[in-house]
Amino acid sequence: MPKQKIVIANWKMRLGLAESIVLAKAYAEHIKTETVEVVACASEIALTGVGEALRQGPVKLGGQNVFWEEKGEYTGEVSAKTLAEAGCSFVIIGHSERRMHLLENYEMIHQKLKAVLDHTSIIPILCVGETQREKEAGKTDYVILDQLQQSLGGIELLADKQLIVAYEPIWAIGSGHAIGPDDVNTMHEIIHASLVDLLGVDAAKKQVRVIYGGSVNAGNVASFRAIDNVDGFLVGTASVDVMEFAQIVNSL
Ligand code: PGA
Repeated sequence: MPKQKIVIANWKMRLGLAESIVLAKAYAEHIKTETVEVVACASEIALTGVGEALRQGPVKLGGQNVFWEEKGEYTGEVSAKTLAEAGCSFVIIGHSERRMHLLENYEMIHQKLKAVLDHTSIIPILCVGETQREKEAGKTDYVILDQLQQSLGGIELLADKQLIVAYEPIWAIGSGHAIGPDDVNTMHEIIHASLVDLLGVDAAKKQVRVIYGGSVNAGNVASFRAIDNVDGFLVGTASVDVMEFAQIVNSL
């Protein structure tokens, strides 16, 4: 059975509290799909309000970050359980902007993944992707395999758990230049093969979706649609325009 396609909106820190609620209401009004799974990842402080506004429609709620400990003296952090309490069923882990600006590394990302999988039924969205420099040095495959190994090594994906891997070449994020469909296809094949190694054939096949992110918009989404091994998209810029985002969802 083919996996259900998923489109994940990453609102990043683009919107204030009131703006987030307005956009969530617009999502509830305009996004009506029953076939594609849709998730909106809002800023932490807006999660409960956005969750409430989304309740009228099919769109699910996601966080943009999580901490690995359950409780304690970790000023400014939020636990997986608290995200679940706020109504999140997804969380982005290891986005390149966090790796770049907050020095998050794959050891931390591994701990975050483990905490989410161990303590909640939230589905983690693990981000991997190479920089422009790594790409130019011909190191893309090596970098992605290393990121997957560091984040997923030693993790057992139990039968009732799911995982999403978002392949997001860092140079494509927010640049307006998405990677070509053939390159996405090749990278997703490499990622699938590595997931089989790390998680086992069954889990990799049935419980993991591999999605693409990086300048996906209503104009280029059709070029990825025919690729079998792309299970969906992580959308930044185009996700704050509800009509464009709805077009992306409806194109699948
Ligand atoms: P973009 O962002 O769609 O603006 O490239 C994607 C992301 O950072 O997840």
